[in-house]
Amino acid sequence: MTGPSTPDAALESYLVSTQERRLGRYLDFLRIPSISTLPEHAADCRAAAEWLAAALEIAGLEHVEVSETGGHPIVYADWLRAEGAPTVVAYGHYDVQPVDPLDEWTAPPFEPTVVDGRVRARGASDDKGNVAILLQAAEALLATRSALPVNLRFVFEGEEESSSEHLEPWLVANRERLAGDVAIVSDVGFFDGNVPAITVGLRGMMYAQIDVAGPFQDVHSGQYGGTIANPADALATIIAALKGPDGRILVPAFYDDVVALADEDRAAFAALEFDEEAYRSSLGVPTLVGEVGFTTLERRGGRPTLDVNGIWGGFQGVGAKTIIPGRAHAKVSCRLVADQDPQRIFDGLKAYIAQVAPPGVTVEVSLLGTGDPSRTAIDHPATQAAARALEAIFGRPPVYIREGGSIPFVATFEGTLGLPVVLLGFVPPDGNFHAPNEWMDLDNFERGIRAMARYWDELAAAGA
Ligand code: BES
Ligand code: MN
Ligand code: MN
Repeated sequence: MTGPSTPDAALESYLVSTQERRLGRYLDFLRIPSISTLPEHAADCRAAAEWLAAALEIAGLEHVEVSETGGHPIVYADWLRAEGAPTVVAYGHYDVQPVDPLDEWTAPPFEPTVVDGRVRARGASDDKGNVAILLQAAEALLATRSALPVNLRFVFEGEEESSSEHLEPWLVANRERLAGDVAIVSDVGFFDGNVPAITVGLRGMMYAQIDVAGPFQDVHSGQYGGTIANPADALATIIAALKGPDGRILVPAFYDDVVALADEDRAAFAALEFDEEAYRSSLGVPTLVGEVGFTTLERRGGRPTLDVNGIWGGFQGVGAKTIIPGRAHAKVSCRLVADQDPQRIFDGLKAYIAQVAPPGVTVEVSLLGTGDPSRTAIDHPATQAAARALEAIFGRPPVYIREGGSIPFVATFEGTLGLPVVLLGFVPPDGNFHAPNEWMDLDNFERGIRAMARYWDELAAAGA
């Protein structure tokens, strides 16, 4: 066993004495409405990038740059004076999801509130909480030791929530300055019950839109009803054909490339202490449903899905209006597992929809986004160093989890930079990411800073 055994007293007293100011800085970051997918927030995304760059300068990082990408900028900074020590590339994203439905927030999403040890704001968890932890860990170490134990390169992206379109070309163009030994992707969190976790699997993604067209515009349903196809009905027919009652997806060949869960995968899922009833009741659903033959954790982390994300068309107002809608639309996405290929899944979906669409309407299916699934190694020394750091700070060893979410960037990072990736973050599993009343646990935030600092010490001690 290698690793620093004594707690860093200077670091601890620095963190204690600066807590209020550091919390204030985190809240400042949360006040910037950096919603990457909405064009009207482009200036806010830039403001968040500039805020981060200024904070990195203050923290003592070097070569701080707001780097142009053609989209929202990427913030780069490094500290490379730990001669002979490993080099860590640490990633997070400063962009956030839209805030609708706004009326379900108990306080405005960009006016952070701190109540009962929780910070509530859009981005408090995903991913500004993790980004602030990375930043404050580096700042605290530089303040107390005038040095970091490892060489560090920060990459903070502003398009994670809207496709990461410009990231890969940026990585390719900046390959030399991204050389390193390990990548930390800090865009994940803890397991059920707020148990420290290292994520070792993420699902991929295929996102599509279905547009169904009928008459040239909305028409009177008395004058025309019964004589033409109704696009909303047709859309319902299409969607109903996508899944069977056993939860299986009916698109032909959909499962062809799915790597079946091995016995050891199933054993790993089964070994996790998971309170299914608490999970159900926290969601307010009468029962959990999913693909027959798999447990809830297997369905979430190890099996592909198909879901409607939104559906609209026709009259949505209060009261009754009698029309046949001219158009109906749905957003549909699939979470994918190894070795499914998002483009192939899209091609299959599109062909199947053409086959099941009823007569009398025209249907278009277009691809909005893709991302590859990824797995990372539990036995890699960099993963084991993270496990030691989590155990040292949180008092129990982490669990290894396969998450249902997607970070397409992970496959890109491995492929483009050839770096092993460790997925390490500190946000609560029920933190309402992408949803109203997103929150971050303040205790996790504070301990996350200590764990991240400790992780870098562990990596330095392990030499990788
Ligand atoms: N941080 C999440 C991914 C995530 C969610 C990891 C839950 C672990 C647990 C990330 O910001 C995200 O939301 N990703 C998107 C990717 C999509 C836009 C391609 C997702 O999973 O929906
Ligand atoms: Mn995220
Ligand atoms: Mn997200």
